[in-house]
Amino acid sequence: MNQLDKIRNFCIIAHIDHGKSTLADRLLEITNTVEKREMKHQLLDQMDLEREKGITIKLQPVRMKYKDYQLNLIDTPGHVDFSYEVSRSLAAVEGALLVIDASQGIQAQTLANVYLAMENDLTIIPVINKIDLPAADPDRVADEIIGLLGCEREDIIEVSAKTGQNVEQILEQAVARIPAPQTSSEQTRALVFDSFYDEYRGVVLYVRVFDGEIRKRSSIKMMATGASGEALNLGFLTPKENPADSLKTGETGYLVTNLKSVGEARVGDTVTLSDAPATEPLDGYQEVKPFVYAGLYPDDADDYAQLKEALAKLKLNDAALVWENESSAVLGNGFRVGFLGLLHMEIVKERLERNYNLQLIITNPSTDYEVRLTTGEELQLRSASDLPDPTQIQDIREPWIKGEIVVPKEYLGKVLELIVNARGMQDNISYLDDQIALITFSAPLANMLTDFYDNLKSSTSGYGSFNYELSGYKVEDLVKLDLLVAGEVVDSLSQMVHRSEAVFRGRDYVSKMKEVIPRQLFEVAVQAAIGGKIIAREDIKALGKNVTAHLYGGDVSRKKKLWAKQKKGKERMKKFGKVEIPPEAFSALLRKD
Ligand code: GTP
Repeated sequence: MNQLDKIRNFCIIAHIDHGKSTLADRLLEITNTVEKREMKHQLLDQMDLEREKGITIKLQPVRMKYKDYQLNLIDTPGHVDFSYEVSRSLAAVEGALLVIDASQGIQAQTLANVYLAMENDLTIIPVINKIDLPAADPDRVADEIIGLLGCEREDIIEVSAKTGQNVEQILEQAVARIPAPQTSSEQTRALVFDSFYDEYRGVVLYVRVFDGEIRKRSSIKMMATGASGEALNLGFLTPKENPADSLKTGETGYLVTNLKSVGEARVGDTVTLSDAPATEPLDGYQEVKPFVYAGLYPDDADDYAQLKEALAKLKLNDAALVWENESSAVLGNGFRVGFLGLLHMEIVKERLERNYNLQLIITNPSTDYEVRLTTGEELQLRSASDLPDPTQIQDIREPWIKGEIVVPKEYLGKVLELIVNARGMQDNISYLDDQIALITFSAPLANMLTDFYDNLKSSTSGYGSFNYELSGYKVEDLVKLDLLVAGEVVDSLSQMVHRSEAVFRGRDYVSKMKEVIPRQLFEVAVQAAIGGKIIAREDIKALGKNVTAHLYGGDVSRKKKLWAKQKKGKERMKKFGKVEIPPEAFSALLRKD
């Protein structure tokens, strides 16, 4: 037996709250990787933001010893915005644990990752967790799993991560069923499946070595970005760092480099040795491209330089973040920033605000559009206000997605209605078991960005789960919807819409704006227009009476307080002509009501 036969690399695929962290705790305990009492601090990443957003926390990759085997367990992120990272985690392993809550069943998010695992030919070990729960229905969940994987009932391990029941079987099965790693070359090649920037040490990579060996102090080269550096330190995680002299074929571990930003060492890149570089990189490198754009402006114009610096710093740790300058008549100088999706957008905004003490205004997100002019010239449009005059336009293409929704079958009708209302088209309906339907559909990305997910949740009592991927660009009859306040177009508020939806969207838009623009001393018209033609209108009545008038009597301090509050609110207003527009107005379409 050679050394590779004693290694198993696998990942964990689970929906949020299905018990991934608890299960990982048990596995580490059984293998004596972590002492019980040091457990909590080590395991949980301190990603408050992700927690608050209800995103599953990514676990550190860990190495465990089980009998005389080396088991490397890595995690897959659980959100569609990061599906490329998922694909690279899957490329780094030979097997996957699919963990499903015995009281919940399969969710669309998990499904997408399972399909990716199948495409990568991974050995999937299905695990039904939480069998101790009174609401557990392992037989129903097993039927779903069999429907999905085509496996046998006895291939499914039923466990309770909470009590530890049957958990050791997972380790037994991982050793017995997951193939050992193989190597095909003498030249050193390691896949980066995660990377982050550490302020004190530089860029740290999590890698899977496919061929050869990386030693401490090796000169390394990134095959896609061309960056060179040094492996200052390396080793494996338990999940704390265990320094080692080298990482060998088949192994997974960390690599501390002297690289300066994750842009130089991206997820999916191949690490090789500068002295003896590999000829071919590992397959599958892609540069992830943003397809959701929004304007980011400092609330206080004086913070512009600070925002610029904060973006640059954040990019050290977020290779996907891109931006260009943008200015707006109302909002001043800011940036048009590209994101991988709405969640990525929210995370970036909140990181900038929390870590750099900024107050930001974010404008309604839009997708990008491909515009072909009558001259044949092609434009990439990232902001509706940049749309050329319609007479110069040959056609406009917008991004479409392929989506998947998993839902109990009694909600099928409602979900199909939602899809049609989003200008989508149902492709197929199949059943995972006799209760759960899987709907695949196509739809324009633009209509997925604002309230589709919320509507899905509310019309399926929270049971529907949704996942999508970009499928391409399609020519559509798209027009620019302008928003006029007191008779004038506000540039940052224009958006692209489909002509068939223009009136509906226009009405929705003006009524949302009416809610957020405060009453002024005079009546203000809020209108939606296409090419100068008004299609919707709401009037904001003039402020009738003094707001402090009702505080009659001599309570001067209360009046002062109220005035002070108004003044503070006013400082944040954006002056547009004579009208004061609050920052919230620029993201009115993102409002959940
Ligand atoms: P995130 O860490 O939020 O991504 O979720 P996760 O998927 O890692 O799930 P986590 O391990 O945090 O478990 C979610 C909840 O389920 C917690 O309250 C756990 O205590 C509970 N839980 C996990 N496994 C079991 C189990 O086997 N039985 C029962 N009854 N509860 C469990």
